[in-house]
Amino acid sequence: MAPSRKNPFTFLETLEQHVRERRVSFHVPGHHNGTVGNDALPSAFARVMPYDLTELPHLDDLHDASGIIEQAETALGNLYASKSKWLVNGSTVGNWSMLAATVKRGERVYVQRNSHKSVWNAIEWLGLKPVLLMPMIERGTGIPTVVTLETIEQAVQEFPGGRAVMLTSPTYYGDMADIRAISDYLSHLNIPLLVDEAHGAHLIHPQLPQRSAIFEGASAVVQSAHKTLPALTMGAWIHYKEDIDEVQLKHALSSFQTSSPSYLIMASLDYARSYLESLTDEAWSSIQKSHVSFVLELKRAGFSVKVGDDFTKVTIMTYPKNGLVFCEHLASIGIDIELAAVDHVLLCLPLREINKQEIEHWVTLMKKAATHVPIIDEDETIFPFPSTHRVSELYTMAEDEPIHRVSFNEAVGSISAETVIPYPPGIPWILKGERITEEKIRVLLEWISLGRKLQAGKHVMIEQIDVIVEEF
Ligand SMILES: Cc1ncc(COP(=O)(O)O)c(C=O)c1O
Repeated sequence: MAPSRKNPFTFLETLEQHVRERRVSFHVPGHHNGTVGNDALPSAFARVMPYDLTELPHLDDLHDASGIIEQAETALGNLYASKSKWLVNGSTVGNWSMLAATVKRGERVYVQRNSHKSVWNAIEWLGLKPVLLMPMIERGTGIPTVVTLETIEQAVQEFPGGRAVMLTSPTYYGDMADIRAISDYLSHLNIPLLVDEAHGAHLIHPQLPQRSAIFEGASAVVQSAHKTLPALTMGAWIHYKEDIDEVQLKHALSSFQTSSPSYLIMASLDYARSYLESLTDEAWSSIQKSHVSFVLELKRAGFSVKVGDDFTKVTIMTYPKNGLVFCEHLASIGIDIELAAVDHVLLCLPLREINKQEIEHWVTLMKKAATHVPIIDEDETIFPFPSTHRVSELYTMAEDEPIHRVSFNEAVGSISAETVIPYPPGIPWILKGERITEEKIRVLLEWISLGRKLQAGKHVMIEQIDVIVEEF
């Protein structure tokens, strides 16, 4: 088949046709259309191998799309009323690319404090100067939510000259910011609004109380299709508007992404888009109603439940400290959840109608798991996200800055030289360049004693941390 800009087939149909033709492969990948190997590979997996193709002329090129990939990305853009590009390295690479395309080394960027580690890693490696925007902290649960317009206004006044605002909405817990008001304000200042919407690819229906930021004036939005849609892990996409420099964005995307994009991931992205398109008004309404019923049943069963603006995220509070144990009991009876923290667990609900039997069965199992775990209906968590100044600038370390390893006790009041991340959700508790408070150490000690998983240097587990030596 000759390379064509006007392939009459969709991405998935073209792959199907390619596989049917049983072509000879003198190209990578090394499984040569699934013809190399032995019986060790499970048969279902073996059947998938032939679809794991490479950038042959008629299969287009992710980094310079002009055929079936371009067609599929255009269809995606039509759905989100934007320009869109597929990502094969998750929202992680989207966050890196949005920042690289809008902010230069040494320039300021306004960043939500409870951003995912992909944002902080990008900021560090790209050499940007972050101004931290404190989110609101939800009363009772202590969970950090979203940044308000007032906080952004204050940041722009106190720390002028920032080149972009980087927000997360919805958050992991489904809370959503007032993107319309924020984008109106920023567009007058010509500051692009970048939104990490890793958890919001499904928020497109006009009747939803709040939709994706791309419909509300954001300049660029990154979504992990794999988190909330039926796409393979790592499948994500980015939507962007005219105020984003497309040349810079494409340069960043092709620099940070693999040069061998997975056709399996891309096929799943096209499928996820078509699934979303296929949902009728009735389907949306049934999905939402069934989710509400599930939450009602959980509440009836005595659980203390938080639902964010995004109806697919359900948090069960497990005061005072039983989240991790509850998670273990759930796992032992076959229920795997998205996240277990010390005082809550988070469930991601599927974007489909959940039927009555499923609801009954799931709630019964959850009640059973909870009988082993006293879950006290308290008013306040003892682990609130630390509330500091509404806006502040992060200390940027020089490369040869002297650092000391000290005990947690000694570290209070010093600037941290490393980042400590509870995982999941991957939101740093202590950021490199941030001052360490007594509260942060208190909570960290509790987490270590309770066995919460932390991404940090091994010495953190023995209650030591690297800090900057300050000269007074
Ligand atoms: C808010 C947020 N942003 C970005 C990411 C990174 O997404 P991905 O795993 O698709 O790279 C995550 C992952 O958990 C996330 O929760």
